Amino acid sequence: MFRKFARSFQTSAFRQLKVGDAVPSALLYDGAPSKAVNLAEKTARGKNLVIGVPGAFSPGCSQRHIPEYIKNFDKFKDQGFGNIFVIAVNDSFVTSAWEDYVFDQAPTTGAESFVEVLADPTGEFSREWDVLFDATPFFGGKRSARYAAVIEDGKVTKDFIEPDNTGINVSSAENVANNL
Ligand code: BEZ
Repeated sequence: MFRKFARSFQTSAFRQLKVGDAVPSALLYDGAPSKAVNLAEKTARGKNLVIGVPGAFSPGCSQRHIPEYIKNFDKFKDQGFGNIFVIAVNDSFVTSAWEDYVFDQAPTTGAESFVEVLADPTGEFSREWDVLFDATPFFGGKRSARYAAVIEDGKVTKDFIEPDNTGINVSSAENVANNL
């Protein structure tokens, strides 16, 4: 009952994405509606990083947040990460075009097989992690808060959620790399 009440007045203190959580089983899409990805299965073993962003092609996501991860992907690889998965509440045609765009912003040899952009078209994955926020003024609907989550053997072991949903501070590549 309290949880239900708390969620309707959601602040970062009540977010579901937290250390110990499992990865949602809601399907994501890799470049096309026919290419479903179960991220819970993909991250069940090993260490991976999941990044949530408010919107494909938004300036902060496209020119700073994700390009910095791409440029620094080897720092994460050297720390034992298998992949970086980037999730946006957009359709898979948009995330496919955006993936090309962000790699063009940060030409970096070897990052293409390490950084994967996935679509959460209905927002169901982000809803399960309780990171959806009302982004109507910017994007016309609900989007994912900006966050980074370290996943080890299928469970969140560190979370970096932007308290204002959109800033690029705690979830930046630099801050996450320095706090692993
Ligand atoms: C961005 O530039 O990434 C952004 C702008 C407004 C709202 C959310 C994100």
